[in-house]
Amino acid sequence: MLVTPHTEELREARNARDGSLGFVPTMGFLHEGHLSLVRRAREECKTVAVSIFANPTQFGANEDFASYPRDLQHDLELLEKEKVDIVWTPTAAEMYPPGFQTWVDVKNLTVPLEGTHRPGHFTGVTTVVAKLFNSVQPQRAYFGHKDAQQALVIKKMVRDLNFPIEVIICPTIREEGGLAMSSRNSYLSDDDHEAAKILWLTLKLVKVAFDDGQRNAQLLREIAMRSLASEPRATVQYVAVTDPETLAEINSSTNHALVSMAVVFGKTRLIDNIIVGAPATVSLADSSFKGDSCY
Ligand code: PAF
Repeated sequence: MLVTPHTEELREARNARDGSLGFVPTMGFLHEGHLSLVRRAREECKTVAVSIFANPTQFGANEDFASYPRDLQHDLELLEKEKVDIVWTPTAAEMYPPGFQTWVDVKNLTVPLEGTHRPGHFTGVTTVVAKLFNSVQPQRAYFGHKDAQQALVIKKMVRDLNFPIEVIICPTIREEGGLAMSSRNSYLSDDDHEAAKILWLTLKLVKVAFDDGQRNAQLLREIAMRSLASEPRATVQYVAVTDPETLAEINSSTNHALVSMAVVFGKTRLIDNIIVGAPATVSLADSSFKGDSCY
């Protein structure tokens, strides 16, 4: 496994390989969610490349960039076991040299949900992912469904900017109690970790209501809000029932929706989501989306 922080060395290693290259971009502190993406890439591609880069530009001024968990040695051990070929660990100085002034912005899709609560976040994400794509030049790139809006935004960027890359969205991987795997789970106290199980319980409640025939988006939202309100340690930032492709809020009845939420436990902000209803023909539910095994 080649491990390098240098873009030039990455490019040379990439160019020396023929056949399909699958790419998993990460910010490190890897867990089973990341490894599920790596395994999917390993199944589908001749070469697998992973980047580890905690991208400063996608964190707001009051967010957790400084404290974002890091453990490069452990990450590399995990990736070695998965038979990854190339690990690129660029530095911030290499990614954002002095005078850097070019940004990639996806417009409408970045406005609601995370965009409202984390201004500037998606500009950081799309800019760094575009730079990672340009250097790694993968045929396929793998992202998790937990960050559903990020996945949609990246798909849009890829289409709009003609990146010759297939974006593959893989199911959310959950802990035994249902909490979606996230590097940020490591911030949770034991009590908050227990309390955070309410996210998955709430999404399952909404799904059961939908499957029992509840199609009114406002009532589905209320079911979620009531469930979250039953957990005193949970502070809700948003619960949204949206079109899974446009992310427009649905206010009437719906046969297909993305139900997503952001909730704070202590100082830790967690997000989660579920799709209810028939799969759409594109976006998150396209042919490469195999669904969430926990649904
Ligand atoms: O999902 C993440 O870990 C990050 O947003 C990504 C895609 C690696 C970009 O920094």
